[in-house]
Amino acid sequence: MKASRIERSHSIPPSHAEEGNERAAQVRGGPDWVRIRTDFPLLARSVHGKPLVYLDSANTSQKPHQVIEAVDRFYREHNANVSRAVHQLGSESTALYEGARNKLASFLNVHRNELVLTSGTTQAINLVAYSYALPKLKSGEAILVTTMEHHANIVPWQLVCERIGTQLKVAPITESGELIVEKFVEALTGEVKLACVTHVSNVLGTVNPVRELARECRRRGIPILIDGSQAAPHLPLDIASIGCDFYCITGHKMCGPTGTGALWAKREHLQAMPPCFGGGEMIREVKFSGTTFADPPHKFEAGTPNIAGFAGLGAAVDYLQDIGMTNIAARERELLDYATQALQQVPGLRLIGTAPDKAAVISFLIDGVHAHDLATLLDQEGIALRSGHHCAHPLMQFYGVPATARASLAFWNTTEEIDVLVAAIARVRKLLA
Ligand code: ALA
Repeated sequence: MKASRIERSHSIPPSHAEEGNERAAQVRGGPDWVRIRTDFPLLARSVHGKPLVYLDSANTSQKPHQVIEAVDRFYREHNANVSRAVHQLGSESTALYEGARNKLASFLNVHRNELVLTSGTTQAINLVAYSYALPKLKSGEAILVTTMEHHANIVPWQLVCERIGTQLKVAPITESGELIVEKFVEALTGEVKLACVTHVSNVLGTVNPVRELARECRRRGIPILIDGSQAAPHLPLDIASIGCDFYCITGHKMCGPTGTGALWAKREHLQAMPPCFGGGEMIREVKFSGTTFADPPHKFEAGTPNIAGFAGLGAAVDYLQDIGMTNIAARERELLDYATQALQQVPGLRLIGTAPDKAAVISFLIDGVHAHDLATLLDQEGIALRSGHHCAHPLMQFYGVPATARASLAFWNTTEEIDVLVAAIARVRKLLA
């Protein structure tokens, strides 16, 4: 018998909560971005004697002090295991962990019992691969992905395909980095039993039309998984309205601690899926003759979870909702437009990914300069951006390049930082090109 699981359902529809927060922000005259930036202690540091310009949020976001303090407070004041102890600390710890589930459920507009807490998107996708696809799919059937997926939404499917003789199909994209929706729909043939698509590309920034894709999948009775790693930190989300079957998020890209994330799945899937990992927390009764399992979502949460991390993720959700995801999306769109225009003035710079509907991720190449050399020299100027394949080898192969440089922005960035980046790129180009 679980002593102290909180069984609160999310009673405030998040869209209303969101609207309420945003209304509050509007009444205050909109978010004060200058003040908000000061919430992030790390942004005040210098690197190689220069003020840090952090442009690698698609890789991992920085953390506001509210999140850092929530993790610190957990260990100082509440540390105990979840759902095992009747003592006060056990109740507090369980309340924080289950409270994070409630907050996330509200943030995503889903029911808390359909939300499995994981270590991140990679674990969430692997859970679907091993608990849903592996037992269900058969040889000769297929899983559909797209050219723009990152490795976490490719490799688990390849591993499953190898084990059961399933085929991996790939829906193509245009040169500008947009999914060719007609081709995706054409690829939804009878043998496809699962489609897996990123909501926002981590390399191109492209926002995929996930509602339309989910509708086409539903018409054909094909379940669809959406990888929301790059969407949850930047867009207001209403998973219920997308109409997908599975949605995966990661906490560390949305101001939360590393090692946190979630899988949302339709209740019918969670009920039918066998557990992937066995151990404590996920059982109802264990006998040597056999074990019965807890109800979802706990059936999929074996062992002691990252409780401190989820205390921090709960604080991160509060933080983002307090600013308002619509405000965040609008702010980042402004920064994206400013940065795109400024970078386009740099001679020899080629943007990779120019879809009209984009998140604030800018991949680019400079004629005659290797992306790694560029990133190394920019680091000397205090500018942190990612160079390389961005865990998306097939996408690099599509563009015929080994690597790109990528500046990924967040709401705390400033136009001044973009000016610093553009000036530094111009200097590096003169030096190397
Ligand atoms: N963390 C990876 C990125 O940088 C996937 O986009």
